[in-house]
Amino acid sequence: MQAPKIVVIGSLNMDIVIEADRYPQQGETMLGHGIRFLPGGKGANQAVAAARLGAAVTMVGAVGTDGFGQELLHALQAENVGTDAVRIAEQAATGVASIYVCQGDNSIVVLPGANHTLLPAHIDACREVIAAADIVLLQMEIPVDTVAHAAQVAKACGRTVVLNPAPAQKLPEELLHNVDYITPNRTELALLTGRSAEGGELEAAMRELAGMGARHVITTLGAEGSAFMAQEGTLTRVPGYVMEVVDTTGAGDSFNAGLAYSLALGKSLEEAVSFAAKVSALAVTKFGAQPGMPTLQEVLDFNG
Ligand code: RIB
Repeated sequence: MQAPKIVVIGSLNMDIVIEADRYPQQGETMLGHGIRFLPGGKGANQAVAAARLGAAVTMVGAVGTDGFGQELLHALQAENVGTDAVRIAEQAATGVASIYVCQGDNSIVVLPGANHTLLPAHIDACREVIAAADIVLLQMEIPVDTVAHAAQVAKACGRTVVLNPAPAQKLPEELLHNVDYITPNRTELALLTGRSAEGGELEAAMRELAGMGARHVITTLGAEGSAFMAQEGTLTRVPGYVMEVVDTTGAGDSFNAGLAYSLALGKSLEEAVSFAAKVSALAVTKFGAQPGMPTLQEVLDFNG
């Protein structure tokens, strides 16, 4: 069987991760346990996760000329992710994420740096790579105009587009019309639709987002699992798994990679969401975003 081809267009960050017992209060200085420098960025995390599952992955993105940029490229290459389409930006530093991990949960501040030098013209230069993909996977840590242009080019080439709308921000209508699958979490769904996505309001919020243009909406719900619907369809819930959580950083990224991989294999949306749920359940059992991504064998062996 040929490996599914996935092109990820998005961010690469060096994650500077500090573990602490709790988050600091405003104005407070407190002690942490240790610091780690780990390859991250939503785009690169999704690329690594898809490659570990067996996809042939090409990364489109940008890093600076600094040492972090080189480390991030090497990390992708070590996972067999193609990096020819990652540009080296002369006048910007590589993206950095400052991450606190407290009792498995995390809070993140990103400095996009070189990620924000990725422009629509760079996407045009990658048209052939995009045209050869089964799935084009996008997130929101590069400029929104670039994401919108990437989706437009991908659709013009007849490709399937998956958009992970993270970090949360309002999205232009023309972008949503070029998206086949959009994967917000509850917070992102609320921001995108301007309405609550809590409890019984989830279905209406998802229907509203589908009405804004995206053909399928998949909402990740943390420990509650996930839910999906097609335009004018009904809501289907997929349960999550109870795991011993070590670090949730990259959980959404692993879900998106699992979804894209499974869809690229031609699976139904329900099968793809169930597969993605297993990938993200395993990802949270290990520390770090990229280091925690499971292999295909680990997913196949996982029985919940
Ligand atoms: O989704 C997790 C990622 O968000 C981290 O790796 C960090 O770099 C930020 O992009």
